[in-house]
Amino acid sequence: MTRSILTLILILFTIVFAKAQTAMTNVDARNSTCLNGKWQTIIDPTGVGNWREVWKEKVPEKKTDFYEYSFEGGPVLEVPGDFNSQIKEITYLEGTVWYKKTFTYTRDSSKRLFIHFGAVNYLADIYLNGEHLGQHEGGFTPFQFELTHKVLEGENRLIVKADNSRKSDGLPGLGFDWFNYGGITRDVNLVETNATYIDDYSIQLKKGSNNQVLGWVKLNGKKPQQQIEINIPELNVKYKTQSNAKGIGVITFKGKFDHWSPENPKRYEVIIKCETDALKDTIGFRTIKVQGPTVVLNGKSIFLKSINIHEENPLKGARAFSKDDAKLLLTWAKELGCNMVRLAHYPHNEYMVKMAEKMGLMVWSEIPVYQHIEFSTPGVEDKMDLMMREMIKRDKNRCGVVIWSLSNETYSSTANRDLALSNLTKKCRALDSTRLITHVINTQGYANNTFNVWDTLYRYSDIISINEYVGWYEPWQGKPVDTKWDLIYPDKPVFISEFGGEALYGSNYGPKDEAAYWSEEYQEQIYKDQIEMFKTVPNLVGVCPWLLVDYRSLGRMHPIYQKGYNRKGLLSEKGEKKKAWFVMKNYYDKVSSDE
Ligand code: GCU
Repeated sequence: MTRSILTLILILFTIVFAKAQTAMTNVDARNSTCLNGKWQTIIDPTGVGNWREVWKEKVPEKKTDFYEYSFEGGPVLEVPGDFNSQIKEITYLEGTVWYKKTFTYTRDSSKRLFIHFGAVNYLADIYLNGEHLGQHEGGFTPFQFELTHKVLEGENRLIVKADNSRKSDGLPGLGFDWFNYGGITRDVNLVETNATYIDDYSIQLKKGSNNQVLGWVKLNGKKPQQQIEINIPELNVKYKTQSNAKGIGVITFKGKFDHWSPENPKRYEVIIKCETDALKDTIGFRTIKVQGPTVVLNGKSIFLKSINIHEENPLKGARAFSKDDAKLLLTWAKELGCNMVRLAHYPHNEYMVKMAEKMGLMVWSEIPVYQHIEFSTPGVEDKMDLMMREMIKRDKNRCGVVIWSLSNETYSSTANRDLALSNLTKKCRALDSTRLITHVINTQGYANNTFNVWDTLYRYSDIISINEYVGWYEPWQGKPVDTKWDLIYPDKPVFISEFGGEALYGSNYGPKDEAAYWSEEYQEQIYKDQIEMFKTVPNLVGVCPWLLVDYRSLGRMHPIYQKGYNRKGLLSEKGEKKKAWFVMKNYYDKVSSDE
């Protein structure tokens, strides 16, 4: 009796709590079959599909049988892509869509098979041939499941439950200022590997060195101890080592690297090999560090001419996911004169990060620990930790990524906020000591034309990242150029991570000097005043307007000026340059890169 109950509990645990695996690195370079394209769907706004067990796809057998769902005859959606922008009737859906894709497979006992998702927003349950493989929570990071012992010879039925309902204990929580695009929002791939494959690797310069690589390769499989090779043909690097019983091989070698920088986005072909697998990656090498009150890239102080970007193709009013989407947004960033992009407020798709690096744009990557987070609720810290690890696992070989941002505008009054975020920072630093780590904060006081930057959370940040909207959410209290600063950590670099205000492109509804008419001139003046105020910021290492382009956010409800758009873009959603764009462009052209 006891044994069968224990077995039942174990089965239950496996079924109910099977968690996705963190995704293997560099899927692009693997033996994969892309499952992008048309997927059948069942739109399930009330979530009754769980109760109907739609993943079983029951079909009538007797004359009296019937089932009140079917993928046959239902809507067909494009994957990748949010479901909201594909079907008008579900524009505002925050709920469940069931997706189905069939694929055929020829089994090979020497191979392993995985299903890899670039992202599913927000909660994903994955089913293969009617079996629940498990669940992944988090709308902006990759995950995978192993199918090796579950995939059938011939046809297989893959079903994904995508649920973008908001969760009070989610990341983000219930409130966020961007459109809640749901669905299978990034690429889906079947990945076939050998029995033992290269799951992960880290190949970057050792902290503090400009020519010494310190990294590792991690194998997954029953033959963990293998010869490992790292080749960089252009540098004549042929490094060999052995992986240990855990499949880990430490890498350390020197090279005469031409360092990556915005002016010279140099990358190398790197071949990572073991006896049973081989991958190619394109990797750049650079150093980044804080040196007193400055940020130093490759030994030279640099001024971060940044811009905030949400993952939305404004021309489509949809979640961005493709190379073309990345090219559009990043070309606009380059045109503005930027050398960095803050990918707000969540890890963007991999094309965005790779394209930025290729175009010579540094990347600030962030997890959606955004505003009101339930830091004390059981499980939330684990979610923060997992999301941070998933972000770093995917992008740690992207030298273009220079900053990990672990929170944005969290409330100092929330219980456990400082402890949870300081713990997360320690874990992040242990995972990756080579990049800067920051928390974006807006708790500063502003009185008597003085900013009082007091938040103790800054203790854990390499740079002091401040969001302030003087000139928009709060009026100036004196001349911008007379602004005073009182910094809790006066020796750290300071980065203005958000500033700006709204304007409707071409708005001509009323007095230009009154905020309530969303005039371009009003926004333009905000930028002129902010640029004046930047002269007063101690240790200023960079600025980052909020934001590049108008984007969808349902809380922006003015029927004339906003229509569901946050209008703080320097560009309209059609890519039209507002007057403030020219003010910012002029500033970036004039401010030297090593200000
Ligand atoms: C905040 C927040 C952004 C938001 C912006 C705004 O600073 O970080 O996500 O969109 O302000 O109010 O427009």
